[in-house]
Amino acid sequence: MLRVLAVVIAYLIGGINSAYLISKYIKKIDVRNYGSGNAGATNVMRILGVKAAVFVFLLDVLKGIIAVSIGRYLCGETGALLSGIAVVCGHNWPIFLNFKGGKGIATSLGVILIINPLFGIYSLIAAILVIAITKYVSLGSILGSLFFLLLNLIYWKSFSTFLFALIMMLLAVFQHRSNIKRLFSGTELKLGQKTRVK
Ligand code: G3P
Repeated sequence: MLRVLAVVIAYLIGGINSAYLISKYIKKIDVRNYGSGNAGATNVMRILGVKAAVFVFLLDVLKGIIAVSIGRYLCGETGALLSGIAVVCGHNWPIFLNFKGGKGIATSLGVILIINPLFGIYSLIAAILVIAITKYVSLGSILGSLFFLLLNLIYWKSFSTFLFALIMMLLAVFQHRSNIKRLFSGTELKLGQKTRVK
């Protein structure tokens, strides 16, 4: 029962979408109608600039941290893993926004920083390196989540942590399916590149 509670709490926390709220508050627009259509920090940067994007990013990371900490407090490591998946699902498919949210990467970062801080930092570094080299945030996000899975495979802890990392990676890849198409067709926007209204 406590696990169900932890999952529900995490899902609802995930649904509080800072990109949506901040774009509504600052510019009275729905960020999902602009740029990539994603309610996340990268798209906020295109529409509202770097400061707003950093704020959104930090709030999304914080969501992951809070949800997993509550999950762990309520029912230990399994609760933390389940809450981690649930908060990302809440971010991606929020009940408050007709199930159209973000791609869950910043929230995933908050989650894995609590689940496994060292692997979280390594994955963040891997993602930053890819973004710095290619200027594609989406590619960095996908490869960062793959790297997290790889670390969990190489430094095996338990089947449940491996399964958790696999689900996190699958969620990230699934949410980036349109980015992947654009990466292959060469039409993906690079970091800082703006776009027109959809
Ligand atoms: O975390 C989202 C990022 O990887 C891609 O965002 O707006 O380019 O689809 P966006």
